[in-house]
Amino acid sequence: MSETDNILIIGGGSAIATELIRQTSANDPSAHLYVVSRSQRSDAITDVSLADWIELDSTDADAVAEQVSQWREQGVLFNRVISTIGVLHSEQFHPEKRLEDIDINALMQVFTVNTASNANWLKYAPQLLVKQRAEWVVFSARVGSISDNRLGGWYSYRMSKAALNMLVKTAAVELQRRLKQAVLVSYHPGTVDTPLSEPFQANVKPEKLFTPAFTAKQLLTILPELTVERGPHYIDWQGEPIPW
Ligand SMILES: NC(=O)c1ccc[n+]([C@@H]2O[C@H](COP(=O)([O-])OP(=O)(O)OC[C@H]3O[C@@H](n4cnc5c(N)ncnc54)[C@H](OP(=O)(O)O)[C@@H]3O)[C@@H](O)[C@H]2O)c1
Repeated sequence: MSETDNILIIGGGSAIATELIRQTSANDPSAHLYVVSRSQRSDAITDVSLADWIELDSTDADAVAEQVSQWREQGVLFNRVISTIGVLHSEQFHPEKRLEDIDINALMQVFTVNTASNANWLKYAPQLLVKQRAEWVVFSARVGSISDNRLGGWYSYRMSKAALNMLVKTAAVELQRRLKQAVLVSYHPGTVDTPLSEPFQANVKPEKLFTPAFTAKQLLTILPELTVERGPHYIDWQGEPIPW
């Protein structure tokens, strides 16, 4: 990447995002790092130099629009955007085990975070990305694959990630015309040791439970190898394609 790269991390409060910020800054000290999060700047990265930390809830379409218009006025364009946003469970809801567990309010919350928040940002890709090669990554999940679904369960999460994948595929068709060098990626990080996976780690072999640092390293290593021609990419932490 060149000296003047602008990189945007959305969902910057997570442990994975913290590692993405740290490693990006270490690999490319001259990059301008912009971070969007619902929370204040994390103490874990006080030593990292940032262009900006923006407190904003990505489910708020007006707040996203306002931020985009500020960047447009400032002439800020991005070479790389990574969104780690996602929710699987909360104090109010847990992933469904069977059909009767479906609760429409919980389902709408999961869709709002996992799908709509990413749509709130991706709709501005033509205004936010440089015309040269640019990358836009959303953290998806293997369970969002329709053709790979053998286990069932987790209705809301699966549906919201499948819809997120469809957002990426559909945007890629449009951007083939409008932004020919944009690489779109739906990314499955594997099982990562974070609050999201914490209640579901019991059956995960220790060597298959990744650290946020490993997760960030894998993504940042794989990303430059992905081509526009073969995209959009739905890939796992090894760079292996996942069937949509
Ligand atoms: N951990 C795993 O094993 C695993 C496996 C497969 C896929 N993934 C995906 O990887 C991504 C990161 O997951 P994680 O494990 O790092 O999760 P996490 O620790 O729970 O972090 C949640 C992320 O979602 C963002 N977020 C924004 N608005 C939110 C809202 N209203 N409610 C909840 N979260 C919101 C948070 O950003 P701010 O707090 O900064 O706003 C943060 O980046 C997610 O998309 C997840 O689906 C994770």
